[in-house]
Amino acid sequence: MTGASAGIGKATAKRFAENNDKVLLIARQEERLARTVREIESSVPGADVQPLALDMSDAASVKRLRDHVRSTGLPVSGLLCCAGAVPRSGDTDADADDVTSVLTEWQEAYQANVTTAVVAVEGLLPDLADGGSIVLYSSIAAYRGSGGTGGYGAAKAALHSYVHTLATRLGSRGISANAIAPGYVADTDLFGGALPAARETMLVRHTALGRAGDPVDIAELGFYLCSGPGGYVTSQILQINGGSSHGV
Ligand SMILES: NC(=O)c1ccc[n+]([C@@H]2O[C@H](COP(=O)([O-])OP(=O)(O)OC[C@H]3O[C@@H](n4cnc5c(N)ncnc54)[C@H](OP(=O)(O)O)[C@@H]3O)[C@@H](O)[C@H]2O)c1
Repeated sequence: MTGASAGIGKATAKRFAENNDKVLLIARQEERLARTVREIESSVPGADVQPLALDMSDAASVKRLRDHVRSTGLPVSGLLCCAGAVPRSGDTDADADDVTSVLTEWQEAYQANVTTAVVAVEGLLPDLADGGSIVLYSSIAAYRGSGGTGGYGAAKAALHSYVHTLATRLGSRGISANAIAPGYVADTDLFGGALPAARETMLVRHTALGRAGDPVDIAELGFYLCSGPGGYVTSQILQINGGSSHGV
């Protein structure tokens, strides 16, 4: 599981640990990753969770990832690519001189949300078990737009096309490929700390259920997609947003 040291990824890693699955937790910052491993171990007795500090936006990480996976002697039955980030926003009223900052935003968004997924999936394809599952993490922003000049939402939308292609490429091996597209989820680090109260109130007001998502809500869906009962679901983008129609 990439992006496993915080927010949705952490809750999802814990969900698999509770099912006695062996879980590899991947993120860049080693200390936070170690803290997450300790947290899961202390709340799930017997949890089999291992940390691996890697930058998944760097193709050079593939070798360490493969070496680690192969050292376990086990095939990968579920690959969840949760690593992602909202880039620093470009100026929404950019003039010609600001185009560079807009392009930087779009490139950062692509690197953080698309490259991280492609590196993990293509890097681990040879080690993915037949009948296994791939889950990518999109966003309501792919449908409704995002802040800044829109690079984040556009990057997430690119994952949708990739999911359909993967499902076709890998269907003959019984491998499913899907994306989860959450709405606003509280208790994550995605926005670099708590959202301003007014923005959070607005996002919650736009849900039909009148509340923000919880990382546990999203974790359950990732777990389902990788479990036996979810095996016939493939090539889908599953929206989970409390009935919201508003981008993040
Ligand atoms: N929270 C929301 O409201 C929301 C809504 C829609 C979609 N999503 C999507 O859901 C996914 C999880 O979001 P979240 O809210 O749980 O985010 P988060 O709390 O910020 O966690 C992001 C995780 O990804 C890791 N990460 C980021 N870049 C990485 C890289 N290059 N290589 C490896 N690990 C990396 C982070 O650890 P390090 O920084 O240590 O690497 C962290 O573990 C993201 O793809 C996000 O876009 C979230």
